[in-house]
Amino acid sequence: MKKIAIIGGTGLQSLPGFSPESEDYFNTPYGTPSAPLLQGTFAGKPVVFLARHGKAHSIPPHKINYRANIWALHSVGVREVLAVAAVGGIHRHMLAKHLVIPHQLIDYTWGREHTFFEENHVQHIDFTEPYTERLRQKLIHAASTLSFETHEQGVYGATQGPRLETAAEIERMAWDGCDIVGMTGMPEAALAREMGLEYACCAVVANAAAGRGDGIISMTEIEENLVNGMENVRQLLAAALQIL
Ligand code: HPA
Repeated sequence: MKKIAIIGGTGLQSLPGFSPESEDYFNTPYGTPSAPLLQGTFAGKPVVFLARHGKAHSIPPHKINYRANIWALHSVGVREVLAVAAVGGIHRHMLAKHLVIPHQLIDYTWGREHTFFEENHVQHIDFTEPYTERLRQKLIHAASTLSFETHEQGVYGATQGPRLETAAEIERMAWDGCDIVGMTGMPEAALAREMGLEYACCAVVANAAAGRGDGIISMTEIEENLVNGMENVRQLLAAALQIL
């Protein structure tokens, strides 16, 4: 079994049931990761856990040091990453508390440090399929053993944040083919690919995206949905780890 990391997003600063055995504070050539890397066990399996927004959920999406996070995970030997993300639902079937295992993404972010390849020579990566299909299939299989709604594919639109989108922006994203919208999917997925890490995402729908629900988006609603949604994520991750 390859060493696996779980990157926890909004609503998952810590992973219930995870027993940390060590806490590593890191410095990388790109600065410090969002939080110490916690190495321990979850559902009986060895796991490294990293809180993407920091221990106290204090780092907004555009300020996250994605390069330091991915570098640090790679340097402790992680080769597979399961990334958890809160998202808004654009597709009319992707409702609050549902899980989505995206198969594609569109990047609308800007101004983020988004590559390790910026010096000395030109280097490109293939990114046709941004998520590792083998890991995606494991998540889908794990979800099939559980009773909550999980969508086996979806296009993740990554926006800059920290504000939510306008209704017109969401309408444009829907025309582009996006099914869900979040703020942290990029450059994380591309950096993982540059580092040679396998990477898949488990997205939790926290709210109907702007203009897709009734009226404005309430932060209380997001928080409430994430409490239930993250319990589903926890079960999904535990089941997936048994078959990875
Ligand atoms: N938009 C962007 N990111 C999000 C949303 C949203 O509606 N909900 C949770 N994360």
